[in-house]
This record gives sequence, C-alpha cells and structure tokens, in this order.
Amino acid sequence: MSVGYYNENAQSYFDSTVLADMQALRNRFLQHVRSGGSVLDAGCGSGRDAKAFGDAGYLVTAFDASVELVRLASHHTGLSVHHMTFEQMDWQAQFDGIWASACLLHVARPDLPDTFGRFARALAAGGAWCLSMKQGDTTRELDGRTFTDVTEAEMHDLLEAVGLNVRDTWLTADVRPGRDDRWVNAIAIKP
Ligand SMILES: C[S@@+](CC[C@H](N)C(=O)[O-])C[C@H]1O[C@@H](n2cnc3c(N)ncnc32)[C@H](O)[C@@H]1O
Repeated sequence: MSVGYYNENAQSYFDSTVLADMQALRNRFLQHVRSGGSVLDAGCGSGRDAKAFGDAGYLVTAFDASVELVRLASHHTGLSVHHMTFEQMDWQAQFDGIWASACLLHVARPDLPDTFGRFARALAAGGAWCLSMKQGDTTRELDGRTFTDVTEAEMHDLLEAVGLNVRDTWLTADVRPGRDDRWVNAIAIKP
C-alpha cells in the first residue's frame, strides 16, 4: 500500500527529500563503519544517502521497493539500485554498515521482529546498523501510506531481541522545514 504512494508520487517525493540535510546522522553512523567498508542503504528512496556514502569512499548497495524511486535513485547515484523489498532480504553477514532511514516505519508492527532479524543477519560481525522511525505508539494511515510508530524502548527491545547490542538511541526533530515529526534513531552493533 505505501509503495503505491511512492510510485505515484516518485518525482515530488524525490524533489522534497533529495536535499534533506542528513549529514550529522550519517557522520554519527559512519563513526562505527570501517573506512571504505560495505554499506547497505535499505529503502533508499531518492538515493541521497547512498550517493553520500559512495562519495565518501564506501562500497554501496542500495535498494527500494518502489520501482519509480529505484529509477530516480539509480540516475541520481550512478549505482544500479536494486528493486526489492525488506521481506526479500536474504544476505548473511554481508555488510559493515546498514542504513535504514525513515523506511521501516512502513512495516506492519507484527512483521517488525522478522524484518529486524533479516537486517541483523545481513550485518557482518562488528557491523553497525543505523535506523530511524517516527516516534509514537500507534499505527496510522495517511495519504495512502501506513505508518508504524515506535517508542525508544520498543526500538531498543526489537534490536536486542535479534541479538544486537544497542549502542545508542536518541530523538531528533525532522530536518525538513515546517515538519513537526519526532524521530527515534538508534545505532546497534552485531557482536
Ligand atoms: C519515507 S521514505 C524514506 C526514503 C529514504 N530512506 C530517506 O531517508 O529519504 C520510505 C521508503 O521506504 C520504501 N519502502 C517502503 N516499504 C518498503 C519495503 N517493504 N521494502 C523496501 N522499501 C520499502 C519506500 O518505497 C520509500 O522509498
């Protein structure tokens, strides 16, 4: 359902997010990823962050479930962005870092444990996962998208339940002007 929204509004979504200033969060994540290591951008949207990781010398893999955003992100990044879903992730110990910015919020709450397990398995030992979801404790429908909001405690528990060590959780305001969303962020490390 949410993916239909991104296909139908791909260009406007790209335009409104590709310049969002995520550098502070990216830097916080990259402190935990070895220089030049492999980074997965899951649910990459515009490809903004995949491009930044590539420009910084990391070996980037990116994917998204929206075929229209895959097209735009491939063009923007120069990467061959994969058209696939979180549910299709089957990587084992592959990545030094995984970035999941504002995308797991479209996974239904009962499916979060399975999805978090896929992310944990895709991380190499010592690898870091940085993710963000909207803060709250409800499931909402808005403009043809479904949002699963989480608290810091729920995100913490989901990460620990799949065997990751939570290094940090923290709240941020939306970087886009005029938006009052609050975001839950976390960095977790695979032992
Ligand atoms: C709010 S956007 C965030 C995009 C990007 N990560 C960013 O920070 O700008 C959510 C993205 O998740 C993607 N998405 C939604 N459900 C997905 C799924 N099941 N598997 C992969 N991507 C999905 C959407 O197509 C969209 O690009």
